[in-house]
Amino acid sequence: MITQVPQPVLEVHDLTVSYDQHPVLWNVDLSLPAGQLIGILGPNGAGKSTLIKSIMGLIPPTSGYIKIFDKPLQEVRTRISYVPQRESVDWNFPASVLDVVVMGTYGKLGLFRRPGKKEVQVAQDALEQVGMTAFANRQISELSGGQQQRVFIARALAQQADLYLMDEPFAGVDMATETAIFQLLQDMARAGKTVLVVHHDIHSAMNFFEWVIMLNLHLVASGPKDQVMTEELLRKTYGGKLNLLTQVTDLIRKQDFNPLKS
Ligand SMILES: Nc1ncnc2c1ncn2[C@@H]1O[C@H](COP(=O)(O)OP(=O)(O)OP(=O)(O)O)[C@@H](O)[C@H]1O
Ligand SMILES: [Mg+2]
Repeated sequence: MITQVPQPVLEVHDLTVSYDQHPVLWNVDLSLPAGQLIGILGPNGAGKSTLIKSIMGLIPPTSGYIKIFDKPLQEVRTRISYVPQRESVDWNFPASVLDVVVMGTYGKLGLFRRPGKKEVQVAQDALEQVGMTAFANRQISELSGGQQQRVFIARALAQQADLYLMDEPFAGVDMATETAIFQLLQDMARAGKTVLVVHHDIHSAMNFFEWVIMLNLHLVASGPKDQVMTEELLRKTYGGKLNLLTQVTDLIRKQDFNPLKS
């Protein structure tokens, strides 16, 4: 089930990516529409982070190519915002919360301008959106894991990009905050931004994503949520992980019987 779209924001053409000559993503071919909140689902090791990193140009492809806004990455880099997966970030880097978020605005500043009042204001607004205003002057090393993650989301928001790539942004973030930020991302998508989120919780994925990509080394599916989040495709994506699948099947049943289903 792979839905291609006309005038895509992101096109991935026949992408194969390898580490030490071992491919971990095979022949991925997809195109994504603008203005949607898009989920990337798949088990551990499925290649989700690898896909995001390839889109960001951090890993060269073995074959295939990627176009963003119909251009190569180098020409549109400042329009893209990236939240790396938690493990890949050095949280001992000496910087305050506000500094880290202000850094998000640098891409727009150009070479010779330093951040001024306007950039600080953008950063403060972003901190407020993730509920971290009270921590603005704290060192990032002195935050809890979930708080650090929220700061990283704020940094991405401060970038005011057109395409957001977020690799498990909600790892360790409490449910109330996750829901609030999901709602914010929905608003951004409605305003025309494209937001890609690697996510592990199938329940909130059902609630919030409009479009879903399912990966397991190969592309299993990419399309509107209602067409893609089926028991068959989830089974194909996750293999025989029974607990999860029982949970998923229950969820799908509940959705089918839910008169308020959107
Ligand atoms: N730097 C690397 N060198 C060698 N192999 C790697 C490297 N990074 C990832 N891999 C391997 O590539 C495969 C895909 O990894 P990737 O990090 O993309 O998975 P993922 O879907 O993001 O998983 P998770 O849900 O655990 O974050 C895995 O088998 C992983 O072990
Ligand atoms: Mg990952």
